[in-house]
Amino acid sequence: MKFKFTIFPNSKSASVFLAHKIADLVKAQPQLNLGLATGSTPLETYQALIDLSHDLDYSAVNTFNLDEYVGLEYANKQSYHYYMLHNLFLHLKTFKLANSHFPTLDHDYDQLIKSHGGIDLQILGIGTNGHIGFNEPGSSADSLTRKVQLTATTIADNARFFADQSLVPTHAVSMGLHSIMQAQKIYLVAFGKSKAPIIKELLAQQQFDLNLPASILLEHADVEILLDEAAASEL
Ligand code: F6R
Repeated sequence: MKFKFTIFPNSKSASVFLAHKIADLVKAQPQLNLGLATGSTPLETYQALIDLSHDLDYSAVNTFNLDEYVGLEYANKQSYHYYMLHNLFLHLKTFKLANSHFPTLDHDYDQLIKSHGGIDLQILGIGTNGHIGFNEPGSSADSLTRKVQLTATTIADNARFFADQSLVPTHAVSMGLHSIMQAQKIYLVAFGKSKAPIIKELLAQQQFDLNLPASILLEHADVEILLDEAAASEL
């Protein structure tokens, strides 16, 4: 199996493309369950979604985030709760915060997603080490939502958001690879030169490799990879 991928001239055009896909689905299916990522990659998509949201009704949309750090208060500016509130949720007039969901240590997130009917559309970024969610290399194909230890690479990558690398949490709660694979449709998005080596490696994979968690997506029936030219520069 091979991945379907599209190279856009820049991150903005890829993000506007993805935002239109999401907005069209919200229109067609008001009770949409959206799987969301944080980090740098989806920021322009969220901005484009806000720009497209004026005549859209988000009141029946449920969102399920991929992950959250362990040990950060939700009010902490680096928490993924804070990120989602300020980069998306508070700007969607009709969205109900009660319909936003995050994995925690004290409830069965996979069961919660299932009880809502499953994720219709999942957005993923990719780590420079190939992680999706915080499923670091070595994560098993059947992993569910759980507490995970972040690798040194991920902690170093995420340090850019913190005043000091020692403040970066070492653990997170993340949907597992199996959890992610249950989504109906998946968009994996990668922007920038730092992602070029892992994208080259991912697109060369023929089957799931434990050392490259995103390669599990080869086993999914409906995945599209959206790249800007920089992320595609080693192809
Ligand atoms: C974030 C997440 C991570 C990021 C990945 C890329 O919720 O699950 O897998 O998508 O680390 O991060 P950025 O987009 O900051 O390069």
